Amino acid sequence: MVMAVLIITTNDQVQKILRSSSSSDNAFAIGNLGDIIRKHRHWQEYFPRVEPFYAIKCNDVEPVIRILADMGLSFDCASKIEIQKILDLGVDPSRIIYANTFKQPSFLKFAAENCVSLMTFDCEDELTKIKKVYPEAKLVLRISPQSNYKVKFHLGRKFGCHPLRASELLQVAMKLKLNVIGVSFHVGSGCLETGAFEAAIEQSRKVFDIGLAMGFNMHLLDIGGGFPGQKIQNVETNITFEEIARVANKSLDKYFPGNDVRIIAEPGQYYVASAFTVAVNIITKKIVMDDEIVQPNSTECVDDPTTQNEPVRMYIINDGIYGCFFACFVDPRCYVPSHFKSIDEELYNSTIWGPTCDALDLIIDNVKLPELSTGDWIYFKDMGAYSFPNISSFNNMPRVKEFYICERKLWEEIYQP
Ligand SMILES: Cc1ncc(COP(=O)(O)O)c(C=O)c1O
Repeated sequence: MVMAVLIITTNDQVQKILRSSSSSDNAFAIGNLGDIIRKHRHWQEYFPRVEPFYAIKCNDVEPVIRILADMGLSFDCASKIEIQKILDLGVDPSRIIYANTFKQPSFLKFAAENCVSLMTFDCEDELTKIKKVYPEAKLVLRISPQSNYKVKFHLGRKFGCHPLRASELLQVAMKLKLNVIGVSFHVGSGCLETGAFEAAIEQSRKVFDIGLAMGFNMHLLDIGGGFPGQKIQNVETNITFEEIARVANKSLDKYFPGNDVRIIAEPGQYYVASAFTVAVNIITKKIVMDDEIVQPNSTECVDDPTTQNEPVRMYIINDGIYGCFFACFVDPRCYVPSHFKSIDEELYNSTIWGPTCDALDLIIDNVKLPELSTGDWIYFKDMGAYSFPNISSFNNMPRVKEFYICERKLWEEIYQP
C-alpha cells in the first residue's frame, strides 16, 4: 500500500501515479482517506443526534475500516467475517450491530461467543434461532417502511416486517422472553426523496409505542442507510445529504424528542463513495457501424433505414463489472468517465466495455467521448461504494491495485505526530 500525505486534485493524482508506475498498464484505484475524514466531520455537524455504524459491506478495505475505527465510528456487520474484521481492529463488540436479519446459526454462535449482542430481526424463525443460540441478545425489530418514495435500490421486498405485523412479532418475542430494545429501517440504498425518511421515522414511532405498551424497554432507533455520498450530484432529483439530514432531524425531533432514545444509523456509501477514483487503461479500440451491432434477443443485424448509420467507438478497458464496476448492473447511469484530452475536442458516440469474455460486461453505452486510442487512460470518480467487495475472480482478471493518499493536516488530526 502506498500512503502519501499531500493535497492534489483527482486529475493530478491519476497523472502522478501514472508517471511513477509507467511500466504498468494495470487498472488502479486511489483512495483519499482525507475525504473520509471530512465526511465524518460533516456527518457530526449535520447529524449531531445520530451515531453512525458504518456498513462495512459497502467497502471493507483495511485502510478505510481502520481510519473509521480510529475516528471512533461503530460498525454494521452482516456476517462472521465482517464481524471478525472489525474485532481484529481492536473495536469493542459493543460498537457492532449485526444488522443482517438472516443469520447463519454458526455466525450467530460466533456473535454470542464474541459478545456482539446488538442485532436486527424481522421474522419469527429468526427469533426462534436467537432464543436457542443467544437469548441475551439485544434485538432491534427491522420494519419495511410502507411508502412510495423513490430510492435507487429497494430493500423492502426481502427485508423488514410490515409495520402492521410488528405487534404479532413482538408478541412472539415476549413469549420467548427475548430482549427487544428498538426498531430499525432502511429506506433503500440511494434515497432520492427526503419524504422516505419522514415516513419511515413516523412508522417507527408507532412500532416503538407498541413495544413500549407491551413492556419492552425500547430505547434504540436505527435509521439505516441510504444517504448519498457521491461528489457528482444525482441528476434525477439533485437530492443532497444535507437535505436528507434536515428532514430526518426534523422528524426525529418530532417523533423522538428528548434524549431517552439512542439514535443510530448504518451509512455505507455516504462515507466512501467519493473517496475513490479508479483509473483504467484502454486495451482495445474497435469501431463498428450502428447497423452492424446485433441487438439483444435478435439474430439479425439492425437494418432500420430511418436511423442514421453512425460509427460507434467501442473501448475495451481493463476493469469491468467483475471488477470495480459491479454497480452498473443495478444503475446503468452511475459511471461518468473522465479523460485527459482537451475539453475542446470533438466528441463521438462511444461505448465502454469491461475486459472479460462476458457480453454483459458493459460499463457505459452511448456516451460522448473525444477520440481515444488503445493505451490511453481514463478514470472514474465516486468509485468507493460497492466496488471492492464485489470484485470476483471471473476470467482471473487482475484486481485493481490500491493507492492511498491523505492531506497531512487531516491525517495528523487523527494520528498525532
Ligand atoms: C442493512 C443495511 N444497512 C446499511 C446499508 C448501507 O446502505 P447505504 O450504502 O445505502 O448507506 C445496507 C446496504 O445494502 C444494508 O443492507
